[in-house]
Amino acid sequence: ETNQQWGGRFSEPTDAFVARFTASVDFDRRLYKQDIQGSIAHARMLEKVGVLSDKERDDIIRGLSEIRIEIERGEFEWSVALEDVHMNIEAALTKKIGITGKKLHTGRSRNDQVATDIRLYMRDEIDLILSEISRLQQGLLDLAEQEADTIMPGFTHLQTAQPVTFGHHLLAWFEMLSRDYERFADCRKRVNIMPLGAAALAGTTYPIDRHYTAELLQFDAPAGNSLDAVSDRDFAIEFCAASSVLLMHMTRMSEELVLWTSAQFNFINLPDRFCTGSSIMPQKKNPDVPELVRGKSGRVYGHLMSLLTLMKSQPLAYNKDNQEDKEPLFDAVDTVKGCLRAFGDMVPAIESRKDQMREAARRGFSTATDLADYLVRKGVAFRDAHEIVGLSVAYGIKTGKDLSDMSLEELQQFSDVIGEDVFDVLTLEGSVAARNHIGGTAPDQVLAAVSRGRDLLAAR
Ligand code: ARG
Repeated sequence: ETNQQWGGRFSEPTDAFVARFTASVDFDRRLYKQDIQGSIAHARMLEKVGVLSDKERDDIIRGLSEIRIEIERGEFEWSVALEDVHMNIEAALTKKIGITGKKLHTGRSRNDQVATDIRLYMRDEIDLILSEISRLQQGLLDLAEQEADTIMPGFTHLQTAQPVTFGHHLLAWFEMLSRDYERFADCRKRVNIMPLGAAALAGTTYPIDRHYTAELLQFDAPAGNSLDAVSDRDFAIEFCAASSVLLMHMTRMSEELVLWTSAQFNFINLPDRFCTGSSIMPQKKNPDVPELVRGKSGRVYGHLMSLLTLMKSQPLAYNKDNQEDKEPLFDAVDTVKGCLRAFGDMVPAIESRKDQMREAARRGFSTATDLADYLVRKGVAFRDAHEIVGLSVAYGIKTGKDLSDMSLEELQQFSDVIGEDVFDVLTLEGSVAARNHIGGTAPDQVLAAVSRGRDLLAAR
C-alpha cells in the first residue's frame, strides 16, 4: 500500500527501511500543538475567503481540537508509515470527520506548514527562556544587594588583582545575562514572521488572506517571499547562536562557582540540595549543577554547528535536509531551559563565606594599586610609584606581611612621602569605596546598579 497522502503517482509501496529512514514523527510530534494551532488558523482563513463553508471550518476545528486532547491524554496512535506529525494529524482528522478533513490542506503544503510550526514553537520557547533569564537575573540582583559590601579578591589571570565587592562580581553576571536576554528578544523578532501561504514554494492560486492568518496566529507579518519562507532556517541558527553565547556565559559562572566551593577557595557554600556525594569518598560534596551546566555547553555549540552545516549550500527552496533541523533545535531548547532552571533555583541559595573572601583579598596584596595611586597623589610619577610598591610587595613576600600589616617605618623604607594616612588606602574597605563611579565596585555603586537592574527588569 502506498502512502495515502501522496501515493497517487507511485506504483509500488515505499521500501520499509526508507519509510523509517525518512520519517520524522518520532521527534516532530513535539510540534503537535503548534501544528493544530496553525491548521485551525488556516481553516478559519479558508472559510473567510470562501474556500471552505462555515460547517466545514467548524468540523475541522472540532476534529483538530479532539485530536489535540487525544494526544495530550496519550491516546493518539502515532504511525511511522504516516511519516511526520503533519500527516499523522491530517490522517486522523479525515478518519474523524470524513472528506472535509481532506480539504484542510487546500492552498497549503507541508513546507510552509512545518516552517510555521517551528516558528510558533520557537516563539513559545523563547518566551519561556526570556522569563527564565529574568528570574535568574532577579536572583542575582537580590543576592548582589545583600553582598554589596562583601569584600573579595578580584582576579586577573586568576591571580589576586584588586579587592572588589562580591555584589559587584554578581552584577557582572547580571550584565552578561542582560545581553543574552536582548539576543533572544531580538531573535524572536525574526522568528515571528509567518510562512503560511508560501505553500510548497511559489505561493498558491487560492484567494488566500495571509494577513488574516498572521493576525490569528499573532505573527507580526506574513513572510515577504515564498521561496525564502519555506526554505531558510536562519532563525533557528540564530537561536542556537544566542543559546551558545548564553551557555558560554553560564560556563564562566559555573567555573567560578566550582572554584569558589573548593576547599582551596572556600568562598561560598552551595546548599546540599544542589550538590551530590561520592560513592567511594565519604567526605565529598560535589558542585554537580555548575559542572553539568559547564559540560552541557558542548552540545549546544554542537547544535549551532549542525544547523549551520545543515543550511550550507542548500539551493532554494525546501529540501528534505531541513527535516534535520528539529532534533538539534529541540535539544538546544531543552538544554537552555534546564540550565536556566537549575541556575535560577541555585543562585539565590548561594551562601557567601565573608571571612574567607576577605582574608583572601587581604593575603594577596590586593591593595598594591591603591598604594601606587596614593604615591601618585603625593607627587610621585606612576611608573616610579609602581616600582616602589613592587619593592614593598617583595619585602612583604619575604617577611610574610601584607602591606597593611607593615608599620609606617617599614613602608617608609621604600618612599619617604609615605605618611600615617597611608593606612586609609591600604584597607580593603577604603580600596573598594574609592572606586566610586558608575560601573565601579564601591558598595554605593553596587546598590545603584541593583536599582538600575530592578528598573530594567520591571520594564520588560
Ligand atoms: N517532515 C518534514 C520536515 O520536517 C515536513 C516537510 C516535508 N515536505 C516535503 N515536501 N517532504 O521538514
